[in-house]
Amino acid sequence: MPPDASYDYIIIGSGIAGLYAALLAREHGSVLVVTKGSIDECNTRYAQGGIAAPIGGQDSPALHWRDTVSAGAGLVDEEAARLLAEEAADRIDDLVRLGVPFDTVGGEIALSQEGAHSVPRVVHAGGDSTGAHIELTLSGIVKLSRVTVIEESLAARIVVEGGHVTGIDALEWRSGTARRFECRHLILATGGAGQMYRVSTNPTVATGDGIALAYRAGAEVMDMEFFQFHPTALRKPGVQPFLISEAVRGEGGLLLNVRGERFMPEHHPKAELAPRDIVARGIVAEMGKTDADHVLLDVRRLPPPKVIARFPQIYRFCLEHGVDMTKEPVPVSPAAHYTMGGVRTNVWGETTLPGLYACGECACTGVHGANRLASNSLLETVVFAKRVVHRSVESLGTTAEPAPAAVDLSQAAAGEAPPLDLAALQSLMWDKVGIVRDGRSLAEAKALLSAWQATASPPGDRPSHELANLLACARLTTEAALMREESRGAHYRSDFPEPREEWRRHIVFRRGA
Ligand code: FAD
Ligand code: SIN
Repeated sequence: MPPDASYDYIIIGSGIAGLYAALLAREHGSVLVVTKGSIDECNTRYAQGGIAAPIGGQDSPALHWRDTVSAGAGLVDEEAARLLAEEAADRIDDLVRLGVPFDTVGGEIALSQEGAHSVPRVVHAGGDSTGAHIELTLSGIVKLSRVTVIEESLAARIVVEGGHVTGIDALEWRSGTARRFECRHLILATGGAGQMYRVSTNPTVATGDGIALAYRAGAEVMDMEFFQFHPTALRKPGVQPFLISEAVRGEGGLLLNVRGERFMPEHHPKAELAPRDIVARGIVAEMGKTDADHVLLDVRRLPPPKVIARFPQIYRFCLEHGVDMTKEPVPVSPAAHYTMGGVRTNVWGETTLPGLYACGECACTGVHGANRLASNSLLETVVFAKRVVHRSVESLGTTAEPAPAAVDLSQAAAGEAPPLDLAALQSLMWDKVGIVRDGRSLAEAKALLSAWQATASPPGDRPSHELANLLACARLTTEAALMREESRGAHYRSDFPEPREEWRRHIVFRRGA
């Protein structure tokens, strides 16, 4: 197919990672941003709690590094985490310079406490509307800049020629028009795969496209078994799961079972502020014990004006759905939230495929290991987007070293299977590859996913591309979860409930390895 146009940079995705990368890359060449929906449709705009950065008086990059490594349960890339913590303050300064209106107290940036952070460290905007402020600020600047943005266009394939990435095939999904764009540098910033699960905090665009495209093009994908479930999403019949930020617990919110009893102190010394995986499993255990589909998040001991001022969005949403959180506890339960695995990169965002970079939630830099520390995700997007653009300018043409033992998943077993659709895939993943898994549930999921893969037709329209990408991510997640015969961080297997030293390593997939 002849190319429609050629750019120095093509960036796929317009969340914080894509837009921030675009604003940096425009200094070094022509930039095209291709995005699947409208420019502001992404996970970023829903981010609530904020961005972690060690900028407080009692804090330091060394302490932030320590907390990040400790949350990651033995699998954090310590060098990547060091860069994350050391470069955090400069990236917050960049966002301030770009105009993101972070909340302040007495002229200083305000800092909140979140789970598993030793000190208050989370920078926020509009109380609990951090992501919306970031997204609207960055997209406002991009729209006025010389960056070309094509909305409602889905990247459908990465074009590789002679072992080097040369561009993408895109689908303008409203008209069905196929287009090809060429580039020198392709940056994936496509976000996570939270739509793999039936109960999810993620918007509908989070279908793991970049991870699936990169895997099909031959790049390595790592750590897919580590999917983070957020402990607290509003649980009301007929209401989409809505995140109730960890910062609510950081401000003093307590978790109670449906009998009104506090239970987290039994599970961890940090109780409600334990690492996310521990809180999520503590809640699941308590729901089981009390035969309930939720627990309660109680902030009634906080002054109501403080709750309303600090969490205006959450307060309003709950109120609109019949819960006044200043007067009654909020029913909550865990929901799928964050894809810790993704396209494997080195600390410069280079993948194993020459010409292809990845940053943001679609990438796996190794900073999160087996469990992401709250609010490290937005930070990772900007720290590594900056490093990607820096590296592309040096034009070293290097790539991440291939993993010595990557596994090939391209074989798909045929078999009898009920028809594949989005709801069936999401239910399978929630029921069999969820917060608590075991060998049996994972093997059942693997068999059905393989059968779906074997009978899937080539995608044509946007929904079928997204379903194919979710299916690819689901297979990578399930296969890795089945291989990892231990429990570590967010990956909990009831048949192997302890960590095992021989599994203190990553699982990497490469097509045709
Ligand atoms: P996204 O913001 O998801 O952007 C991905 C972009 O890629 C979108 O524009 C999408 O349309 C586009 N795209 C995807 N596939 C294609 C394709 N095939 N073709 C073209 N375009 C494509 N993290 C924190 O650190 N702090 C928080 O407080 C926090 N709160 C959160 C609250 C919620 C409800 C959620 C869902 C997440 C939260 N997170 C938080 C996580 C954080 O928001 C995300 O990890 C981060 O925003 C990811 O940014 P990104 O730019 O990588 O991806
Ligand atoms: C939250 O506000 O609880 C989400 C923070 C995050 O995902 O890091």
